[in-house]
Amino acid sequence: MPEMSEFQVNATAAAYLVSAILFIMALRGLSSPESSRQGNMFGILGMIIAVAATVLSPDIVSYQWIIGAIIVGGGIGFMISQRISMTAMPQLVAAFHSLVGMAAVLVASGAFLNPGAFGIADVAGDIFTASKIEMSLGSAIGAITFSGSVIAFLKLQGLMSGAPIVFKGQHPLNALIGIAIFALIGLFAYDQQTAYLGLNAFWWLTAIAFLIGFLLIIPIGGADMPVVISMVNSYSGWAAAGIGFTLQNNALIVTGALVGSSGAILSYIMCKGMNRSFFNVILGGFGGEAAGPAAGEGEAKPVRRGSADDAAFILKNAGKVIIVPGYGMAVAQAQHALREMADILKSHGVTVLYAVHPVAGRMPGHMNVLLAEANVPYDEVFELDDINNEFATADVAFVIGANDVTNPAAKTDPESPIYGMPVLDVEKAKSVLFVKRSLAAGYAGVANELFFRDNTMMLFGDAKKMTEGINKALN
Ligand code: TAP
Repeated sequence: MPEMSEFQVNATAAAYLVSAILFIMALRGLSSPESSRQGNMFGILGMIIAVAATVLSPDIVSYQWIIGAIIVGGGIGFMISQRISMTAMPQLVAAFHSLVGMAAVLVASGAFLNPGAFGIADVAGDIFTASKIEMSLGSAIGAITFSGSVIAFLKLQGLMSGAPIVFKGQHPLNALIGIAIFALIGLFAYDQQTAYLGLNAFWWLTAIAFLIGFLLIIPIGGADMPVVISMVNSYSGWAAAGIGFTLQNNALIVTGALVGSSGAILSYIMCKGMNRSFFNVILGGFGGEAAGPAAGEGEAKPVRRGSADDAAFILKNAGKVIIVPGYGMAVAQAQHALREMADILKSHGVTVLYAVHPVAGRMPGHMNVLLAEANVPYDEVFELDDINNEFATADVAFVIGANDVTNPAAKTDPESPIYGMPVLDVEKAKSVLFVKRSLAAGYAGVANELFFRDNTMMLFGDAKKMTEGINKALN
């Protein structure tokens, strides 16, 4: 490997420092809808600088593999970005995280098989103890990220049942495997040569880390999947950071740590949003409850149905309307028609606000992105804690394609799988309008008794078509 001159070492370090600062500014920018575009640009710039500094380093001995990988990977990424729908974003993110995990395993395996090339061994070929610990941690976390992400992808894509898979002795088994991984890391750090049952400790710990990745995610139920996504996001960051130590690459260490910690913080925030314990999630020990019965079409209880004209009449005569968007609005792509409806109502003197639940839709920030796309003013969009008290003073709660995030069972039924999840108090409004196609349950599979209340009117239909119908009637 060619030696780097002092200038090259300093220039690379400076470039990595600049890219790390840009990544931090990107995260800061992404924390609010107003600055998110700028945050994205900082992230892109930081990544260009980091990649350029790495590719231009004299450590790179040939370019054909790098260029080939960029063309193939970039081509596949470009094709996916053209085709993917917003609603399929969570499973795409899970699939991408699996690649980060696998990359970490492959880099660690490469370092184990050829430590000289990585500069992490003495002349006798013995890997330095610190490097052995770093690479085994990187490989183990990478393997957990890979298999955990694959299960998350299969569940979200509907290729595997979203129901929790639980069996007796699951937690002791997970604990045992966790202890075994640490024991194997210790054995490997102590002696890199010895084979146990024909395999070196490094391969054993990687293999059982793949296994625990599967075991950690299979017991997690569908409604808790968002936490899993940000959890594997966090794991993928720590795997990258571990590998950064093996490769002695500061940019990778810093970026991995940023991804790892921001993913962990997001997981924590989402746990709070769904009333789940963070440590239960990390240990894979939650979501064991089965989903409750769905409210089927054939429900015997009477409901009050309304038409677009009825809805337009109620909305026009209201003083204050709070719109609650959910997954169905995203599927129907009703955000533009919805903004149009809000504009018309505002022109009639109606106050219009939006209430966004932290886990509405299928990914963090899902509703904010869609509302921003439709140019809904940011100052009309409120988070759960900031708007929940307002429902009591609202004339209409206009619930469009949302269900679980309004379900009072979360407050009243300790047996419900969503019990304890904070929900929007839509029922406190004078009238509640629900736009959805049927009486079917939402993601958590739990019946919503609000559909049958006296102050509820069901507007059955596709969210976009119904909203367009309301707009027509309003005009
Ligand atoms: P859900 O409870 O899933 O309800 C969405 C409703 O939209 C459904 O009941 C469905 O009823 C309706 N719908 C579907 N397509 C529609 C269309 N074209 N037009 C009109 N309505 C349509 O959604 P939510 O209230 O947003 O709650 C989110 C749920 O997803 C929570 O349980 C949450 O834990 C979970 N989750 C969230 C995330 C994140 S991070 N946001 C990620 C994964 C899971 P019909 O079939 O009757 O139309």
